[in-house]
Amino acid sequence: MSTKPLSRTEISLHWIVGLGMIALIAVGLYMTRAEGARWLYPLHKSFGVVILGFILWRAVLRLRKGWPADVSTGAKWEHGLARVMHWVLILGTIAMPISGMLDSYMGGRGLTVFGFDLIAANIGDTGRPVAINKALGDFAENVHILAGKVLIAAILLHVVGTLKHHVIDKDNTLRRMVGHS
Ligand code: HEM
Ligand code: HEM
Repeated sequence: MSTKPLSRTEISLHWIVGLGMIALIAVGLYMTRAEGARWLYPLHKSFGVVILGFILWRAVLRLRKGWPADVSTGAKWEHGLARVMHWVLILGTIAMPISGMLDSYMGGRGLTVFGFDLIAANIGDTGRPVAINKALGDFAENVHILAGKVLIAAILLHVVGTLKHHVIDKDNTLRRMVGHS
């Protein structure tokens, strides 16, 4: 475990991925429920594919450098819970874009990023997309929905934990993540 302050890269990646995930969750929930919000689908997918680059960069960095050392004096179980949550958050960020992309591809809808077809849709005789593997597409969709719910719970816990560090314990945990430590 590293005991040094977090690097600029670690801090930037945390906030780009973290705030990006929160925005994509909000848009995902809204576009699937609100009337007339279908125009958001291509934007949701495009930003989701782009953020995957930052997610993978971040995950590789974590695997190579290890987790940042704790700066707090909290109970042992609190540190354990925080570590489990960090794993859930990192794995959740990987599962979301991959399941979303698989859902689109297997459903025959291809993969388009800001208007560029990375993979063209599988258009059938009727002029509508035809599934490449419907069972796999449906499975990926269910993973996307379920992982989204798990992530929402994990993020809420993560933010509550951060606030506890900052307001109650008054330690450096949040300050270090904004570059003031
Ligand atoms: C407003 C929202 C957020 C705040 C205030 C926040 C705050 C923090 C803080 C203070 C730490 C340092 C913890 C430590 O030193 O042990 C941290 C670490 C971490 N956060 Fe967040 N976070 C937020 C959102 C998110 C989101 C949405 C994700 C992922 C979906 C996320 C994933 C992580 C991970 C994986 C770590 C472990 C250290 C690392 O890999 O950079 N955070 N966060
Ligand atoms: C990268 C982070 C992403 C996050 C956090 C995210 C989050 C979400 C959430 C929360 C929903 C609503 C699920 C529900 O109905 O409860 C959703 C729906 C959806 N997302 Fe994503 N998404 C991401 C990336 C992607 C990508 C890359 C694609 C495709 C290329 C995609 C395609 C979809 C589709 C098609 C739906 C609608 C699923 C349905 O029919 O219910 N998402 N997303």
